[in-house]
Formats: sequence, C-alpha cells, structure tokens
Amino acid sequence: MKAIEIVKGVYWVGAIDWNIREYHGYTLPGTTYNAYLVVGDKIALIDSAYPGFDDQIIQRISSVVDPQKIDYIVGNHVEEDHSGTLPTLTKMLPGVPLYCTANGKAGFMKHYDTQDWNFKVVKSGETLDLGGKTLAFLEAPLLHWPDSMFTYLVEEKILFPNDAFGQHIASSERFDDELGRDESLKQAQKFYGNLIVPLAPKVLKKLDEVGSLGLDVKMIAPSHGVIWRSYAADILNAYIRWSKGESKNKVTIVYDTMHGSTDAMAQAFAEGIMEEGVEVKVCLLKDGKNEGTHRSAIMADVLDSKALLVGSPNLQGQLYPTVADFLCYLKGLKPGKLGKKKLGFAFGSHGGSGSAIRAITADLRSAGIEVINEGFGVNYRPNKQELQRCEELGRELAMKIKEM
Ligand code: FEO
Repeated sequence: MKAIEIVKGVYWVGAIDWNIREYHGYTLPGTTYNAYLVVGDKIALIDSAYPGFDDQIIQRISSVVDPQKIDYIVGNHVEEDHSGTLPTLTKMLPGVPLYCTANGKAGFMKHYDTQDWNFKVVKSGETLDLGGKTLAFLEAPLLHWPDSMFTYLVEEKILFPNDAFGQHIASSERFDDELGRDESLKQAQKFYGNLIVPLAPKVLKKLDEVGSLGLDVKMIAPSHGVIWRSYAADILNAYIRWSKGESKNKVTIVYDTMHGSTDAMAQAFAEGIMEEGVEVKVCLLKDGKNEGTHRSAIMADVLDSKALLVGSPNLQGQLYPTVADFLCYLKGLKPGKLGKKKLGFAFGSHGGSGSAIRAITADLRSAGIEVINEGFGVNYRPNKQELQRCEELGRELAMKIKEM
C-alpha cells in the first residue's frame, strides 16, 4: 500500500474502507478515513483511522518514511473513525506529542487507555513549526463534536478540517477533479444533509472566522472522501448556500403504503407539482434498500427542496414503522431550521381517525418545517375526486414554492 503525495512534502496516508455500508444510521457506499503526513524538517501525522485499519495507515506511512520518524501527531477529532488507530501508533511511538484541543484530550481519555500518551493541548492561533512547514490550529467546537479542530498548513494553504467538507465514498480517486466536480458535490451534499445540517450556524461562523483570519485556502483535505484541489471554492460556496437554507424549486415526497392508497395519493401530488414545472422527488420508503430510498439518501433531497410531504397509512392507530423511523431521523436533523423556510404537510389513508397524519404534522413542526395545512387524509381508498384534490394541492404547493 502506497501513500499519495498531494503537494510536495504532504502525503495522503489514509485507509479505504470499501465494505462499510452503515455508519450511525447513514447508509454509504464505503468511505475513506483520510490521514495526512506532513514532512518538513520534522514530521507530523494528522489524524488516523477507524479501529482495524492500523495496517493500511502504517503501510502507507512506511512507503514515505519509517513510521518511527514521526515527531508529532495531530488529533483533530476524537470520534473513532479518526482516532481508532491511535492506540497502535502511540505504542509504536512512545512519548510522541499528540496535539489536540482541551476537549480533545478529555475525549481521548474517555475512549482509550491514555496514561502513556503525551498530550499537547492547543488553542486557536497556536502553531507548530515543522521546519519549512507550519501547522496552525483553529478550534472548531461542535463541528461536529465538542473536541473538533481544524489544522491549516500555512505554506501550502491547505485546510485539514476533519469531517467538514467530507464525503462518505470509497473510490480509487483521491481528488475532486478525478471523481468529477458534480459527483464530489453530490456526495458532499449527502454528507452535509445527514451530519452538518444542525450545525449550520456554526459553519457560517467558522467560515467567517477563517475569512477574518485572512486564511487563504487553496486546498481542502477533509477526513473522508476526495480532496478538494480544483473545486475548493465550489464546496465552500455550497456549504454557505446549504447553511443559509438556500434550496431549489423542488418538493420531496416521502411515504410508505400498506395497500397502495397512500402510494396513489403520493403520485397524484407529484403529478400536480410537475404540472407547475416544479421538480419532484418521490421516495417510497419500504425497507430502504432501493437506491435513493434510505433515510440518509432522502436527506440529501430534503436539503435542497423547498417543501417536504410525508405520508403514512395508519397502522394500529400509529405511524407505519418505516415512516416513524424517517421522522425520528428528520427531527434530529431539523432541516426546516436552516436559514430559509421549508413548507410541508402530511397525507395518508386510514380506516379510523387519521392519527398518523396528526403524528406526522407534529413531527414536521418539530423538524422546523412550516406546515401549511393540517394534512390530507382519505378513508380507505382514495376515490377519483380525492385524487383530483391531491393533484390540486400539489399544484397549489408548487405555485407557493415558485413565489418563495
Ligand atoms: Fe468522521 Fe465525526 O467522524
């Protein structure tokens, strides 16, 4: 296994996890755990990988230098996908200084047996001179854990922001221009929609801070996915857009169906929306195994939609379980609380009182969605007039969206 030199004296020495398909509720087509070796007169390793990837990291480092020659480790983030190989590395390098935030130190101590670790706690603005290369540290609390930190390589103008600007994808490409601009941004959108949404105000504040410090960022080397070397400005602009809640004339419809009635309603809404020339994405949840229908794929669509419709049949007076799962996830992320409003309402078929619609309406409100009616329910199967009403509601929603 080999390192890849990303600029002179800076190497990607990360791990590719081709097989991971689920990570705390996020479905993913594999991922990478990016670590970087910065070689000046002294040598620093930035971040590591998930437990079990020790060999990949060590072999890639060994293709550049003897790992015993590493002088410093930088731990930007405690979460195990970036620190899981530290126990091995700190054993190989007894006494090696580990640079992290105060919260980072506390977090590492809760995760690992750190009695022999040599912590060097840093604050924003502190630097580490490697001789010819200088690392500057910038605390980034809650982006996305309390311990998070960005590291900036002054001479080459590379930002190592850990999770921020990342994408969960395993591929042979290491750079945005190799994977392609559109695919890189698409994967970054999914990552943002599932992980960064609740942190939007902190993203905007941090980007302002980076600007006010006069940090010129030429390259962004995140801890997952491809490195932004050709489209760094595009991903920065996308983060600003997403964090401000900017979205498209688009509606996402998410639902499940028991005997096809709620499905017929979803399709009628979609027809009405399309008639008004507004983009629509229709997501039948089922088991989430079909392309684009798992909760984490849907969140990428919710992010750039101006409206979200959620439908469920009643099941024992409750939500359909797949819809309950989606709403639980949605309430945690709260995409309706980004800078601009998102509209929505509930729909579904029921034999009894329509309690599923009331539950969806409450959950949409918890997620910050501006609910524009109390939901549209039908008893058993929707008849022709009821389906026409669904189309009409779709048209009305699309017209509202076009005025936003
Ligand atoms: Fe990629 Fe917060 O871990």
